[in-house]
Amino acid sequence: MNESRSDDIKEKSCCSSPTESVITNDLLEHWNKVYEDSVVSNLGWYEEDPEPSMRMIDLCNLDKRASLLNVGAGATTLVDVLVGAGYQNIIANDLSAHALDKLKDRLGQESSKVNWIIDDLTRPCKLNEIGSVDLWHDRAVLHFFNAEAERDSYFDLLKRLVKKNGFVIIAAFHLEGAPKCCGLPVHRYDAGMLHGRLGNDFALIESFDYTYVMPSGDHREYVYTLFKRNNS
Ligand SMILES: C[S@@+](CC[C@H](N)C(=O)[O-])C[C@H]1O[C@@H](n2cnc3c(N)ncnc32)[C@H](O)[C@@H]1O
Repeated sequence: MNESRSDDIKEKSCCSSPTESVITNDLLEHWNKVYEDSVVSNLGWYEEDPEPSMRMIDLCNLDKRASLLNVGAGATTLVDVLVGAGYQNIIANDLSAHALDKLKDRLGQESSKVNWIIDDLTRPCKLNEIGSVDLWHDRAVLHFFNAEAERDSYFDLLKRLVKKNGFVIIAAFHLEGAPKCCGLPVHRYDAGMLHGRLGNDFALIESFDYTYVMPSGDHREYVYTLFKRNNS
């Protein structure tokens, strides 16, 4: 399932109307530029140690062959940690090929152990074809979807992909958190709002508030949530 770096914007309009493509392309340019212009360790969401995500993932007690989908992965160190922990079926998605290229470069030869999917979570094409997953992990992505239609697409995709008994981890800006991230307005959450979007098919297993310290020293308030899908 590995993808080459030539996978680009032209393919992205496959599920979009012309107007939607314009919006997507603006955001794509935004994110590509962010990753092009920045050293990864200076990004306002960079984690040396993705401890809060791993705390949740450890609670899932997944087999090392389980399929783990990291949506909007960017250049996150979580993928390095998961590879190091021996997970064999990791899928890293992002809208931005530049972001994933940075992650691939850092991983070096280990990058062949990861499946790379460049796709838009709000207008998915290739993500529709990956089959079901045991874990959906999102840190700092959902909160960028300010339009109801974008959130609907995101949760529709999640519900199509997550297996029965599968897990969902979502970490988003807390209701009391900052109104913007990376220069973009955000839609903030608490655990109840996320549960409301997922519905009764999903049980809340764990949640905690988390203060992330940015490389600049500023603080950002997140809510971390772990849900498990019912068997029925
Ligand atoms: C704040 S960064 C978080 C990156 C990563 N999850 C982390 O914790 O380091 C948000 C990421 O979401 C990606 N993104 C934004 N909109 C997206 C979309 N519609 N589909 C997929 N990825 C998207 C961006 O390219 C960026 O890498």
